[in-house]
Order: sequence, then structure tokens, then C-alpha cells
Amino acid sequence: MSKLVTAKAHTNIALVKYWGKKDAHLMLPQNGSISLTLDHFYTETSVQFQPELTADQVYFDNQLIAPAKAARMTTFLDLIRQRSGQPNFATVRTTNHVPTSAGLASSASGFAALAAAGSRAAGLDLTPIELSRLARRGSGSATRSIFGGFAEWHAGHDDASSYAEPLQDPVDWDIQMIAVVLKATKKPISSTAGMARVVATSPYYPAWVQTANHDLDEMRQAILNKDLTSVGEIAETNAMRMHALNLSAKPAFNYFTADTLTAIKAVQDLRASGVNCYYTLDAGPNVKIICAGQDTPVIMTALQRYFAAAQLIVTKPGPGISITEH
Ligand code: DP6
Repeated sequence: MSKLVTAKAHTNIALVKYWGKKDAHLMLPQNGSISLTLDHFYTETSVQFQPELTADQVYFDNQLIAPAKAARMTTFLDLIRQRSGQPNFATVRTTNHVPTSAGLASSASGFAALAAAGSRAAGLDLTPIELSRLARRGSGSATRSIFGGFAEWHAGHDDASSYAEPLQDPVDWDIQMIAVVLKATKKPISSTAGMARVVATSPYYPAWVQTANHDLDEMRQAILNKDLTSVGEIAETNAMRMHALNLSAKPAFNYFTADTLTAIKAVQDLRASGVNCYYTLDAGPNVKIICAGQDTPVIMTALQRYFAAAQLIVTKPGPGISITEH
């Protein structure tokens, strides 16, 4: 029986987005991305390899998952077995610490935690950058969840050159996100399939890669300058360009609901009244508002005209991965 190892990874929200692969097997992205890791949402995963098992056993919130649903995780465990020489199947227990069905339990924290716990349990002792490369093979956004604060994923051109590293951690200035948690209709298309369709069919894709690369340079500088206005402006424009790609795909799709547009309008109205806040959106209806902590009360009051207090979650920059051996 191997060591029992638990890892905790926080989710991250991209400020310059990853939306398209150039190599689906190695999970190499078309462009680099920059994110902020959040303190409020995280995944805890424990892994132990056991000789008596005849298949991997994956539990989500103490419920055993059917093999078909756990396929992406067991494929990832195969990669760990291959690298470490660990011959056994594993018991995996994973808990998402996010509001139930909030749609914020992204694969980012999940695969970052699995990479860390799984590799250590298998006897590997990887550096954070090696862990970031490994997590990438599970889900692109997980590449960045190894690190706290602001992180940048370098697109790279092969397995070795595509990894994230910290840009700024800890974050010692006033920036936070308010997650507006909206009721999801059935997800129109997964992020994996959505971005693949966009790369294959959007005539605007080359312009996206070009502007995203420019956004990376500007965002890096804005973070270095601790300039909330620039971070917010670049993030908002970048997010809307990503969603414009979805509208320009064939067939077109989008992740917005009516409430998404209500939240966007609320942010625009707040800004028109002098409050410094911006929005970003991912592959779902939720809106994340980028703002300073000092403006939380006025933003919360404005949003509560449309949304229940329980739908509004204030989150601050969060830490990188932590690993415990039992
Ligand atoms: C919109 O990381 O979920 O959140 O690599 O196929 O697992 P796969 O996709 P995933 O895509 C995340 C897309 C995004 C933007 C981002 O996090 O950069």
C-alpha cells in the first residue's frame, strides 16, 4: 500500500483567458494566460495506491463515481503510474469546497489537487513547475492552480515548455473578486468541446491569438503596477473577445443567461456612477466582478437589487497548493 496523501488546490479565474489548444494530447494552448487564484473555492483530494484494487475507485463527496464518469481522472492516474512506475490502482477521495452546484468547481482546482496528491502518493517528488506541467495534462486551467496569487501559464511549444509560474504571490494590494453565482441551465457545451469548435470554425480565431498575446504583456505590467483599473479593463475586454469567438463559431453557442446580462449591466451602471469595477466570465453563466475590497459594500448593495445575498460571494487572492502526507 502506498502513502496516503492529501492535497488542497484553490480554483483560479483567468484574467487573460486560455480558449483553444494547439495540441489536444499534450494540452498545449494556443496562447498563454494569466489568472488570479481565489481563497474561497478549493478542492481537497486524497490518493492512495493499493495492490488489492482491480480498478481505480473515485469518490466525490463520499459517493463512489461510476467508471465512465471518472474516466478523465483514471486516464490522468494512468499518466502518473506510467511516470512513477507505480503498478497499483488507487482510491481517490475528492471534495469540492464550493457552494453546491455553483458551477465554480472548475476542473482547475480538481486536477491540480489530483496531480499533487497522486504524484506524491506514487512516490514522485515533483517541483511546483513539474506539478504545473503534470496538472496541465488533466485540464489546461489546472496548470495555473498550483500557484497562489497571480500566475502566468506560458503557452510553450512542447511538454517541457508549457507550464505556469507565479507572477505575484502574495498579493499585497487591494484586489478581489465578487462571484455572482447564477442558476445554470444545462451547460450548452463543455469548455473542451467549445474551444475546439472555436479553433476549428471561427474566422476570428487568428485575431484572438494576436490580441491575447498583446493582453498578456499589458496585464503583466498592470499587475506589477498594482493598477486595478488596467487589470479590470484588460480582463473585461479579453473575456468579451473570448465570448465573441463563441458567437462566431459554427454552430454558434454562448454561456450567457438573462441573469448574466443583468449582472453585466449592473457592473456597467456601477462604473458609470464612479465605482471602479469590472466583470469577467468563463464557460458558464456566473459573473466575477473584479474590484477593490473598499468598494464591496456599495457593489453588494447595488447587486442585491437583482440577486439574493447568498448568490454573492466575496473572494480574495488565495494560496497555492498544499500537500499533506498521512
Ligand atoms: C474559460 O481548463 O476547463 O476557464 O483544458 O479542456 O480542461 P480543458 O479546459 P478548461 O478551460 C478553461 C477555460 C476558461 C479560461 C481559462 O481558465 O483560462
